[in-house]
Amino acid sequence: MKNNPLPRLDNSPEIRELLAPFCRLQPGDVWDDPEGRHRIGCSDAADRDRMRELVAHTKPTLAIHDPPYNLVAFDLRSIGEFVEWCRKWIQNTTEFIAPDASLYVWLGADQNDGFQPLPDFMLMMRDQPYKARSFITMRNQRGYGTQKNWMAVRQELLYYTKGSPVFNVDAEYTDIPKILRGYYKEVNGQKTENLERSKSENIRAGNVWVDIQQVFYRMDENVSGCYAQKPLKCIERIIAASSNPGDAVVDFFAHSGATLLAAEKLGRRCVTTDIDPIYAEICIRRLERYRRSGHEGWQNGHPFELELPSFAESSGAGFVAHEVAVPHKLLF
Ligand SMILES: C[S@@+](CC[C@H](N)C(=O)[O-])C[C@H]1O[C@@H](n2cnc3c(N)ncnc32)[C@H](O)[C@@H]1O
Repeated sequence: MKNNPLPRLDNSPEIRELLAPFCRLQPGDVWDDPEGRHRIGCSDAADRDRMRELVAHTKPTLAIHDPPYNLVAFDLRSIGEFVEWCRKWIQNTTEFIAPDASLYVWLGADQNDGFQPLPDFMLMMRDQPYKARSFITMRNQRGYGTQKNWMAVRQELLYYTKGSPVFNVDAEYTDIPKILRGYYKEVNGQKTENLERSKSENIRAGNVWVDIQQVFYRMDENVSGCYAQKPLKCIERIIAASSNPGDAVVDFFAHSGATLLAAEKLGRRCVTTDIDPIYAEICIRRLERYRRSGHEGWQNGHPFELELPSFAESSGAGFVAHEVAVPHKLLF
């Protein structure tokens, strides 16, 4: 299927209505992976009882969260309300992850609004039982801004730890060869150059990641309908660095299922949830498609293309769904 994208689904009520009958999970439901590795919920990250049911017995050693930055379940909130909401799902994370665990949180810093919510979130985290470890910036290829300010091209990622979790430094090496030489040091009476001393010919990612391609429709991993999809490469880097094979990873804001798919690829278990039944369904479909075909997403297509095959021609207005008269289970 060529050039058949879905628009962003969170603010397309007409399309949401059409997709609703194909969603396996309703609020409060959990999908247990028939292969026994993952769990996908449709629930509110701030709901302690639901998070306990979903996560507690899996004891994740790694949490990767990517909350909506200024919205709480689709409504605009003040920064104070937003941070209080964050405190709740952070507490749910703390309570249900392993004693030795890592926590990564993606968060925006709006340069048109006092760099919020990043600074207030960081202050809130000072009261939580974590050690702040790193403040990572990932560089986007596309930016936004005016001619009168520096273009915004960064995404912020905070890294915290609780106890003494693993850190596999090998995961930090990029595909970028070292090109600068000349950092000499004497080792055992011999003058050595930095390349001779280093573990790898490639550079470490450090806390500024410049080697990650943003997702766009030409990429195999593209999941159209998703508006905030993280590239698999950055999630795989986090998982490889901060967990071991067989460990469980938790993500309270599943969306396109990037953490789920990266966990599947790297032999980890994943527990993830999204408050929106459509994104929870997309996650299940993305995993099923990957297992069936090896594809990481839907280049030029979309997760509901079997039920809504002619979406591109109608593109929104006057849109006609060609619903297929078989239950979704039979389609995969
Ligand atoms: C920024 S996106 C996450 C993107 C994800 N990391 C990815 O790569 O696809 C945030 C997601 O959180 C979901 N969400 C919003 N409020 C939520 C809540 N209270 N509990 C759980 N999920 C929520 C939204 O539906 C949205 O899919």
